[in-house]
Amino acid sequence: MGLLLALPAVSAINLSVSSTGGNITTPIAYGLMHEDINNSGDGGIYAELIANRAFQGSEKFPSNLDHWTPLDDNSKLTLRKLADNQALSSALPYSVNVVSSSSSSGSSNKNKKDKKVGIVNDGYWGIDVRPQRYTGSFWVKGGYKGEYEVSLRSKITGEIFGKTKIKGDKKEGWREKEFEIWPEKKAANTNNTFVVSWDAEGVKDKEKGLDLNLISLFPPTWKGRKNGLRVDLMKALEGLHGTFLRFPGGNMLEGNTLDTFWKWNETIGPLKDRPGMAGVWEYQQTLGLGLIEYMLWAEDLNLEPIVGVYAGLALDGNFVAESDMGWVVQYALDEIEFLTGDAKTTPWGKVRAELGYPKPWKVKYVEIGNEDWLAGRPAGFESYKKYRFPILKEAFNKKYPDIQIIASPSVFDGMEIPKGAAGDYHPYLTPDEFVTKFDRFDALTRDNLTLIGEASSVHPNGGIGWDGSLMPFPWWAGSVAEAIFLISAERNGDKIIGATYAPGLRNMNRWQWSMTQIQHAADPGLTTLSTSYHVWALLAKHIIRRTLPVTAPPGAPNFNPLYYVAGASEKGTRIFKASVYNSTEPVPVSLQFEGVPKGAKASLTVLTGPSDQYAYNDPFTRVNVVKEDTKVVRAGEKGTFTFSLPALSVAVLETEDRYRL
Ligand code: AHR
Repeated sequence: MGLLLALPAVSAINLSVSSTGGNITTPIAYGLMHEDINNSGDGGIYAELIANRAFQGSEKFPSNLDHWTPLDDNSKLTLRKLADNQALSSALPYSVNVVSSSSSSGSSNKNKKDKKVGIVNDGYWGIDVRPQRYTGSFWVKGGYKGEYEVSLRSKITGEIFGKTKIKGDKKEGWREKEFEIWPEKKAANTNNTFVVSWDAEGVKDKEKGLDLNLISLFPPTWKGRKNGLRVDLMKALEGLHGTFLRFPGGNMLEGNTLDTFWKWNETIGPLKDRPGMAGVWEYQQTLGLGLIEYMLWAEDLNLEPIVGVYAGLALDGNFVAESDMGWVVQYALDEIEFLTGDAKTTPWGKVRAELGYPKPWKVKYVEIGNEDWLAGRPAGFESYKKYRFPILKEAFNKKYPDIQIIASPSVFDGMEIPKGAAGDYHPYLTPDEFVTKFDRFDALTRDNLTLIGEASSVHPNGGIGWDGSLMPFPWWAGSVAEAIFLISAERNGDKIIGATYAPGLRNMNRWQWSMTQIQHAADPGLTTLSTSYHVWALLAKHIIRRTLPVTAPPGAPNFNPLYYVAGASEKGTRIFKASVYNSTEPVPVSLQFEGVPKGAKASLTVLTGPSDQYAYNDPFTRVNVVKEDTKVVRAGEKGTFTFSLPALSVAVLETEDRYRL
């Protein structure tokens, strides 16, 4: 591991902030980025509790019975692919067939008393059970005279925490059974299962048994949405104070091959019509968290959506030929028409309305592809620069002139961004790299409008490239360096659309990427916030709408060890954000705001970390190594605030009152 430089003690840094000049920044500041990585969609923010609920599979991840077990020895489970006219839907051809081994032909077990059969699901590494309303449904094929029972049970003791009966019927074809379960008590842990059972004697055709599919169970969701999102994780995301949501990726948008990209039209509509996809992060995805769910997520957290549209590049490096771009363009335009088109006059707007969303959404930002400079380079990137981006951009500019188009590479990746468009920059760096490039955005012009669509410290200083391992969690020095990077972006807010950490979420039971802001498991009580979460949340909470020039006296250190930006909020309060790096000593600061009177009050929040700069918030110990201290400070003569910022700290000062600019 590399070491941070240890500079000697520094003398007070005197800064004065002007009340004129600076630049007006765009309203978008900090955001969230989401794709289904780290089981952060299925098994994460998407609140579905049943794993492998519809036996979805692909060439890469064939359908299977993972997570399902028989209720007991009497229940025989078989995964079956049904013919098109027999299957629940063409999207979900597989289902589970259950027969009683005591009634299947040739069975020696003819014990008529042993009548219960059923299936058991162990959830996404457990199921959180507490006294609250769970809503569920399953599809069943085959006649049954009797009652189904659904229950939530302990996997260890078999204790039943809650159960409900559902009436069977003698019909033959697929039909949906809906139910609610209200457990009477909270389970001691999440080692629980969901069970559907019935009386084998009541099954009309005992040899054939029953087929079940799309077996689903949801806890209460954020804002009570059907097919919605996990409350605790949405709450944690809300605490990040983001203002935009970039989705659906990330690599997930591109897919592994040209056939397996994120097909928006397969993510909408009833769940039984969603086939799922071979995820790019080593697991099959249900696509229950689809395009509409992403829009509702944005709506419910007041976020501006940044919609990534497919641009014809796969992660295996293949890309669509110029002569075939017609369908790629139409497909992307249709997606935006689906979201924004009039419900009566546009074909895709009509489809949206039929799905229950007549009111068009507003989409101000569309990103063309994801990291098109990377996969299959140099040919993939060349094709993007030569025709994929220009063709898509032109089509969008023509049909949707008000939408801000974002290219998936940035000027920092060697992309010349055409006038009117923006680029997307994804720095995954070491702390020192973030700090030494503090001035990188200063050279941008407004024609180089840039989104920071993904960013984080990933390796310690001196750390190796992508073949080496990442840090196990965001760590304090890495998070401080991210703050300095964000401050460098905020100093150039008029050229930066916004910034988001990526990826945001990580299920601790199966993950592919360790640097995340939020860690989670089945138990909401285990959700933890990384060191970077605290840093990004603090900076995002105080939005600078207009940067203001800061001057340091001649000879004062230039941004080392104190990195800062100052400005005014929308309402006119004064904001100062700063971070200390490259110092073992506290840095005294004297900060004078022009136009702020003596005695003015401000709140000063300072984040500090542990003495071990590599320490992180470990979800297994649940110790938060970040200390947050907020105090009220008062301005002295000429509106001067004096305070001291510790080594490796991040701070925000905001005045209580607003002042004229
Ligand atoms: O955030 C994880 C991955 O990093 C994203 O999918 C991709 O865009 C980037 O390379």
